[in-house]
Amino acid sequence: MPTTILHKESLIPGRTSKLVLDAPQIAATAKPGHFVMLRVNECGERFPLTIADVDAEKGSITIVYLVMGASTTLLEALGEGDSILDVCGPLGKATHIEQGGTVICVGGGTGIAAMHHIAKGHKAAGNRVIAIIGARSRDLLLFENELKAFCDEVLISTDDGSYGRKGLVTELLKERLESDSVREVVAVGPVPMMQAVTQTTRPFGVATTVSLNSLMVDGIGMCGACRVTVGGETKFTCVDGPEFDGHKVDFDELRRRLGAFRTQEKNSLEHHRCSCHDK
Ligand code: NAD
Ligand code: FES
Repeated sequence: MPTTILHKESLIPGRTSKLVLDAPQIAATAKPGHFVMLRVNECGERFPLTIADVDAEKGSITIVYLVMGASTTLLEALGEGDSILDVCGPLGKATHIEQGGTVICVGGGTGIAAMHHIAKGHKAAGNRVIAIIGARSRDLLLFENELKAFCDEVLISTDDGSYGRKGLVTELLKERLESDSVREVVAVGPVPMMQAVTQTTRPFGVATTVSLNSLMVDGIGMCGACRVTVGGETKFTCVDGPEFDGHKVDFDELRRRLGAFRTQEKNSLEHHRCSCHDK
């Protein structure tokens, strides 16, 4: 249904923005882990975004996106007061949240925003929550203050050492697994990061949940575009996920499938620039 943008904030100019949407029906039932499918206008395709936050009282949801293709470029062209043609949700299965113990929530790059909602859910359940967040450099780090507002600890790494520890999130994670008793690790971010997180936790035998960002078309289990292999079985990310046991995910297949349509995505962006702007 058409949805109004209540607030827009550029988090990283030209790269990442945050939108607060007037979506009371979605906000009333959305839980951590859920996502929405958006279609910006009649020129746009449908694409998924994980919900970064919900305000049930105000009837709003927050989404954060990386401007990287035709659809997010269309979205980025909108401002406060504009409408998105379709916002459908909440979709997917909510995060499975158990009570007790320490949970480490790892977020990389844009994935930090989606991880934020999951971390909030774990905190609300009474768990001790440690956030580990990483970006290539300080200017690309998201949601540090939002996470510090409720997490028990927030550990930061940057690839170039411009803020926090120099290195990858997995290095901080390994140190914590060596020193702390951890019940579960949750990871949201680029696929190589989520795969590396599962490789880091495996020797420690710690349960690891990953939120997969598969390609999606309908988002409701009918088209098969989002299929992934988990524990040797075919699963649909949109209805069986997006969260799965990271130790069972076939990441190599996921990476191949995500890369399979790069040429079409590039062409679509070019086409969008040529055709939609003429209207
Ligand atoms: P990025 O490539 O800049 O990486 C961010 C951080 O992740 C790095 O600083 C590092 O700490 C960690 N990282 C990356 N590769 C790693 C590796 N091989 N081993 C260990 N740690 C690693 O991130 P970005 O460009 O902002 O990421 C965007 C990606 O995140 C997109 O592919 C997007 O689809 C994905 N994403 C996923 C979700 C989701 O729900 N899974 C949500 C939002 C974004
Ligand atoms: Fe079509 Fe999941 S997006 S089955």
